[in-house]
Amino acid sequence: MNLLVTGGAGYIGSAVTRRLLASGHAVVVVDDLSSGHREDVRGADLVVADIADAAAIDALLSGRRIEGIVHLAASCQVGESVQHSEDYYRNNLTKSLVLLERACRSGVGRFVFSSTAAVYGEPERLPLQEDHATRPTNPYGDTKLAFERALLWHGEAHGMASVCLRYFNAAGASLDGSVGERHDPETHLVPNVLQAARDGRPVPVFGTDYPTPDGTAVRDYIHIEDLAEAHRLAIDRPADRGRQAIYNLGNGEGFSVLQVVETARRVTGRPIAVLPSPRRPGDPASLVASSDKARSELPWSPRHSRLEDILETAWAYMRKERRATV
Ligand code: UFG
Repeated sequence: MNLLVTGGAGYIGSAVTRRLLASGHAVVVVDDLSSGHREDVRGADLVVADIADAAAIDALLSGRRIEGIVHLAASCQVGESVQHSEDYYRNNLTKSLVLLERACRSGVGRFVFSSTAAVYGEPERLPLQEDHATRPTNPYGDTKLAFERALLWHGEAHGMASVCLRYFNAAGASLDGSVGERHDPETHLVPNVLQAARDGRPVPVFGTDYPTPDGTAVRDYIHIEDLAEAHRLAIDRPADRGRQAIYNLGNGEGFSVLQVVETARRVTGRPIAVLPSPRRPGDPASLVASSDKARSELPWSPRHSRLEDILETAWAYMRKERRATV
């Protein structure tokens, strides 16, 4: 299939692009390189453009006879979204709506959307199933939810099948070490803990008074290779024409911040000090997925579920990056 991947130069997007190429699809990546890296797009054409540049998108959709879109381009930090909500509504909603409108007009039949566990807000029960109430506690989750809804109605009106993949916490690096997380600045827990191990400095623990067994926030960490495979399955086997399917993607097991730090100590063999810090605004206490629906319908089966394995790949990538930059 001829596919357009937005955000394909980013951490998750580059892993998805690689997987789509490996399964025989032709991929063009659109990325403004605001946070992605040109060199992480390998084997696909890269068009450096904004997803809201209607003329550039129209030219690609018709010129390349695009049949499906995988839309990952977004601002994606929960804490930042609380402080700069206007950026999140502009980048994740207003701009995405331009892309969606152009896609509908040009008759794109399939659309896979990178959504998030942040659409649920504070869970009423765990593990979270897709039909759980959606009450986001931060603008990031709210913008993703709003776009899911727009996609539902646009899809129905224009005969476009869509799949929303609600990721839990993406982590880890590709097994061959070619794709890994390197945001600047880095805000995510796994790379921050590993950087702390590498640099011999403490890692901040945001919130130690959550209603969780050790008082720190609990998340469900999912390997990017497993996420990438879910995107491939979703674009190859979408919902019926004009329908929308929604799937959680997680391992179904929650780890607290302190458990992640402890696991990182084992994996790296280094001491990691923690610095108890105030809660980060917008953070729910616990997010753990039920991915039963994805497992039975896509059908998706994560292969790198152990937290140790996720951290080991991220640690190997970080050490390789370090060698490459010294
Ligand atoms: N945390 C720390 N110290 C750090 C970094 C993070 O204690 O240095 C804490 C956070 O406060 C949070 C947990 O570790 O409680 C996980 O934080 P991340 O920033 O790694 O991830 P988030 O859960 O905030 O968000 C991630 C993605 C979102 C996605 C969400 C779904 O960034 O895109 O997972 O759960 F929506």
